[in-house]
Amino acid sequence: MIQVLCDGRLFHLQTKNTSYVFFANPVGRLEHIYYGARVEDPATMLMRHGRPAPASFCVMRKGEYSNMGPDVLPQEYAGFNSGDMRMAALIFKTEDGAAWTDARFVSAKVVTEKRALHGLPSSFVGTKDTDVANLEVTLLDEVGGVEVTLLYSVFADNDVISRSAIVKNVSDKIVRLERAMSAQVDFAGKNHYEMVNFYGSWARERYLDRTPLRHGIQATGSLRGATGHVHSPALILCEPGATETMGETFAFVLEYSGNHFEAAEVDQFDGVRVQIGIHPGLFSWKLNAGESFETPEMFMTRSGEGFGKMSRNLHDFMRSHLIRSPWNGKRRPILVNNWEATYFNFDTQKILDIAKMGAKLNIEMLVLDDGWFGHRDDDKSSLGDWFEFKKKIGDMKDLADGIHALGMKFGLWFEPEMISEDSELYRAHPEWVLCVPNRPRCYGRTQLILDFSRPEVVQHLYDVMAGMIGRAGIDYIKWDMNRNMSDVFSAALPPDQQGEVAHRYILGVYKLNEMLIEAFPNLLIEGCSGGGGRFDAGMMYYLPQIWCSDNTNAMDRLAIQAGTSLIYPVASMGAHVNAQHDVARFIPFETRGNVAMAGTFGYELDLTKLDEKEQETAIRLNKAYHRYHDTISEGDYYRLTDMFHENDVEAWSCAAKDKKQAVLTVVRRTKIGNIKRVPRFTVPGLDPAKHYCLVDDAVEAAKQQVFPGDVLMNYGLWCSELEFRDCASKVYLFEAID
Ligand code: DGJ
Repeated sequence: MIQVLCDGRLFHLQTKNTSYVFFANPVGRLEHIYYGARVEDPATMLMRHGRPAPASFCVMRKGEYSNMGPDVLPQEYAGFNSGDMRMAALIFKTEDGAAWTDARFVSAKVVTEKRALHGLPSSFVGTKDTDVANLEVTLLDEVGGVEVTLLYSVFADNDVISRSAIVKNVSDKIVRLERAMSAQVDFAGKNHYEMVNFYGSWARERYLDRTPLRHGIQATGSLRGATGHVHSPALILCEPGATETMGETFAFVLEYSGNHFEAAEVDQFDGVRVQIGIHPGLFSWKLNAGESFETPEMFMTRSGEGFGKMSRNLHDFMRSHLIRSPWNGKRRPILVNNWEATYFNFDTQKILDIAKMGAKLNIEMLVLDDGWFGHRDDDKSSLGDWFEFKKKIGDMKDLADGIHALGMKFGLWFEPEMISEDSELYRAHPEWVLCVPNRPRCYGRTQLILDFSRPEVVQHLYDVMAGMIGRAGIDYIKWDMNRNMSDVFSAALPPDQQGEVAHRYILGVYKLNEMLIEAFPNLLIEGCSGGGGRFDAGMMYYLPQIWCSDNTNAMDRLAIQAGTSLIYPVASMGAHVNAQHDVARFIPFETRGNVAMAGTFGYELDLTKLDEKEQETAIRLNKAYHRYHDTISEGDYYRLTDMFHENDVEAWSCAAKDKKQAVLTVVRRTKIGNIKRVPRFTVPGLDPAKHYCLVDDAVEAAKQQVFPGDVLMNYGLWCSELEFRDCASKVYLFEAID
């Protein structure tokens, strides 16, 4: 719900459990008042609303109230070089060379339609929750001739508010945008809070840092051209001591897949300014008279019940209002991917052998990974040549028909944004790569990056990909991206627009996704960037699942998947059973399966090498997936162990929204002698008044154990099976019987 109070100057964005309040103050600055637990009458906040008293060093325009100096006010979207000395949300330069920004309130309106951004991911109303309200607030920098429209949408049922900004040049001269954040949120007096952000690397994605805020700016971001493995486009603030179930937490998540920036600044009055948006490094945008720039959307939530509720708000929001694939909410096919089985060393027969064994084990899709095109036998050639490597796989249509004849779907790997110098495409179009003239080029995995800021490049990729998908009848594609971006320069843009290349590139990536989705609405697309290097809410708008990490070791995956689940729904995480690569640590097949089951499930190994016992386990896992995967992917997710530490036992559970089923997974990471902590875990999200059967197919029906919901929720279950074995795991399935 949105309330506009106090003669149209006080704005109250109210969700089920939160209130977000801001005010157009008498000098037209958009002053942030409150973001916290829900209140009913925020107008009373203004009666005793205090502002820090500025010293003489605080500058402001002549005649403006002394206690409204911009440097001391919490604001909604701060200007630059006009009094607020903290991080600016908006910086632009006018033709006279001035970088001076000061946009003041003009008007606001509540609108019924949720605006969709052009060429960018935009959350939508959807069908599940209907209580979505929208507010558009217009600010104007009169001197620079720049209008800013701040867009707010309130998803009341999810406790989520989305935001973005549209910057329009309303002058008759050129304006150059240097920084345009998606959102800014200023909190008064939360300097004692902690900040949680993501860090990592290839094969070690989304580890968590939790540090107290300190005075000054604390920021993460990416200038890698994509989200990157190192930091994620999200930031969390939390009360000190906040846990999974207790304490105030706020999450800010950007729907963007390119260079991102997320920061918190603690100012001289202990205010905290949070900003999130496109990274201002490598960014500038030329706005001709009348032109607009739309920032990517971000969304934020506040939980008064710790990180667990915060994550569930975000998961619900993304599943209902962001992931638009028709596969969202549908059971995804269990897949087998040949990458770790064969790498580049395969032929049609090998792929069909894996598929045949897959069909026998009730696996539903074969994904042919890297190496099927051009003359690619290693990673040094052929990117861009998306036609069959005939010597290896013959005609793709024949192979696809062969897989389909087994009753399986067929998926194919592409790396659309890349080009090898040793390729027909490069020989035909050397000008299509990103590179700075007269500078040495940087290579990653021997490959270069196609200039996706050029529409003809995007169109070419569409033509060849759509041709292959249509001709062979491809059901799924894995969209990979295997290097960081450097040499950001487009031969197609003039010198004064080179700052636009990185963002235009991402718009090209989105455009190609859009074209493919339009042409093949049921195509299942899985995102990937050397594992989880482009795991972000922007990609999720186009595709429902992303390969979570190239690290398929089940023990290593525990931290990666827990960190990812902090923001993203588990149904979006590609997670596969791998072969026993780790010679030092034996991980039972069952455990590899149980860990992979906490995502979109599949296999990443040579199925033809499974022994009989492993085949039986695979059949059992596949059956289990069908029995409870709806609960895992669509239900409420609970982390039951502390994700900020590596625990000897890790546990999580999922409860169906209708409370008829719950799945508790427990994994023993390491065995220590005389363990301190009995592995007893509660099962949250049940109906306390119902009874639940602990389903175990190996136990005859009459002997199944039945527990009251309140006992499972409060006392829990002693997972005695796990006491003595390293890397042991167990999935406990509970089904309501009344
Ligand atoms: C990186 C991906 O993450 C892997 O799964 C695999 O597809 C390789 N690229 C292929 O080159």
